[in-house]
Amino acid sequence: MSDVVPPAGPAPGPLTSPRPGARPGARITAVTSGKGGVGKTFVAANLAAALARAGQRVLVLDADLGLANLDVVLNLAARVTLHDVFIGRATLAEALQAAPGGFTVLLAGSGLVEYSRMTPEVRDKLLDVIAQVRPRFDHVLLDTGAGISDVVLFTVSLADEVLIVATPEPTSLTDAYALIKVLASTQAARPMRLLVNQTQRRSEGRNVRAQLQQVLDRFVNTGLPQPLKLDLLGEVPLDAAVRDSILRRQLLMESLPGSPAALAIAAAAGKLLPP
Ligand SMILES: Nc1ncnc2c1ncn2[C@@H]1O[C@H](COP(=O)(O)OP(=O)(O)O)[C@@H](O)[C@H]1O
Ligand SMILES: [Mg+2]
Repeated sequence: MSDVVPPAGPAPGPLTSPRPGARPGARITAVTSGKGGVGKTFVAANLAAALARAGQRVLVLDADLGLANLDVVLNLAARVTLHDVFIGRATLAEALQAAPGGFTVLLAGSGLVEYSRMTPEVRDKLLDVIAQVRPRFDHVLLDTGAGISDVVLFTVSLADEVLIVATPEPTSLTDAYALIKVLASTQAARPMRLLVNQTQRRSEGRNVRAQLQQVLDRFVNTGLPQPLKLDLLGEVPLDAAVRDSILRRQLLMESLPGSPAALAIAAAAGKLLPP
């Protein structure tokens, strides 16, 4: 892996040697949601850019296997993908590519029916990829698919912490609750944070978190050895700049860093930095 592509931009030193004093491995965060289309990929890519700007070595792994679109958001050609690594057509080093925001991406193929269900082979390959990238980065963001399919649940199980993205819409909240409930009852307890995206009022994120926490306390926490506490990582406003940046296939953090949504993402990224 000595030929890993170093991230472009302000990224620090060689990826092959851990920074002195740094943690031995990356913190792996699954960016996930109950409902689709809430902004996971937008959030993952722009959080990664903000973390990279702060000097962190960041990898975004497109874990929406089968329906990958991180490449579209970043305007990158998915020349070599996770699928090529899985089938032995390429090495992991060949599949890691530099993204415009100064971080590294591992893209996935799109439209591959073999990833609509989790098989023992895919499971092992994914575990192997995670084990190989962990020592080389400070943060690994898994941009997962939505919902509670076995593929999503397995990719989320690989993470050290879970970031749930939800919008304030009732349908998104119901699905976020369902996902959290399944994770709480089937997976190890880990820090779970909420990012409320597309807010239209001040404090809407705080209210959404409080509402979700209330239902969790009432219906989920009663059956758990340790109550689950949902932390609010941030609230990102509904902002026309987001759609503009996606249409132009640019990162919001790069094209419009002063926009309200970019500032909110930068604030959220600040909370993910080591103390
Ligand atoms: N804060 C926001 N303000 C405005 N539009 C947004 C915002 N976040 C996401 N969007 C819109 O939602 C769409 C879906 O986002 P995406 O990240 O692809 O969702 P997911 O990965 O959860 O399916 C984006 O293409 C963008 O147009
Ligand atoms: Mg997505």
